[in-house]
Amino acid sequence: MSKTDKIIVAIDGFSSSGKSTMARRLASAVGYRYIDSGAMYRAVALYALENAMVGAAGDVDVAALVASLPQIRIDFEPQADGTQHTMLNGRDVEADIRQLRVSNVVSPVAAIPEVRHSLTAMQQQLGEGRGIVMDGRDIGTTVFPDAELKIYVDASAQTRAMRRFKELVEKGSPVTYEDVLANVLHRDSIDQNRAESPLRRADDAISLDNSEMTLEEQDAWLIDKFNRVISGQSAS
Ligand code: DC
Repeated sequence: MSKTDKIIVAIDGFSSSGKSTMARRLASAVGYRYIDSGAMYRAVALYALENAMVGAAGDVDVAALVASLPQIRIDFEPQADGTQHTMLNGRDVEADIRQLRVSNVVSPVAAIPEVRHSLTAMQQQLGEGRGIVMDGRDIGTTVFPDAELKIYVDASAQTRAMRRFKELVEKGSPVTYEDVLANVLHRDSIDQNRAESPLRRADDAISLDNSEMTLEEQDAWLIDKFNRVISGQSAS
């Protein structure tokens, strides 16, 4: 490929695989915009919960949610500390969308084709000027099949559950490791088996198993791939 200025970096993988941290740190190191596409699915799931579209058994009122999609506006608001917060119809929902009640309902919400079409269109708009790092499940396959750099992150379910458990405990959530592992396994299965853009590695993605890597090793690995692409070399 030829030398290029601004590219799209697509980072896909299972939940809690560390892909958001990787993506955020790369974006900040190279001055790109970071977009957490999972946060957008979480915001839609929160909207469904807050508007009585989720039954006691976790069943989603698909027709009501699809009818409401035109009323759901999602933005990202930059913060003084360099991070950005997810906004749902103008309200900061960054903390709310990370709760376990949202995690428990987000996979069925993300399996609804109309929800995916609507969010895919928003994500493509966000990447129009390139210079973006986006993480998710289908960024390299569906949202930006032409992304110049595609990474597929993997790690064992136990490693990922332990990471998420520690994060939740640090935030003061009363959860057990077993509950978090069950949630991770359940979401893996829905993410991989749904009909509409299931999680899968794009043929031209580079795989990374980061189970045994430190953050610094991971950053160095990714920046090397990025620099190769930017200078016109093959990333792998
Ligand atoms: O990355 P995360 O755990 O915050 O993602 C939340 C949910 O959204 C997860 O169950 C999968 C779904 N998702 C998706 O289907 N496609 C994406 N591009 C990003 C997330």
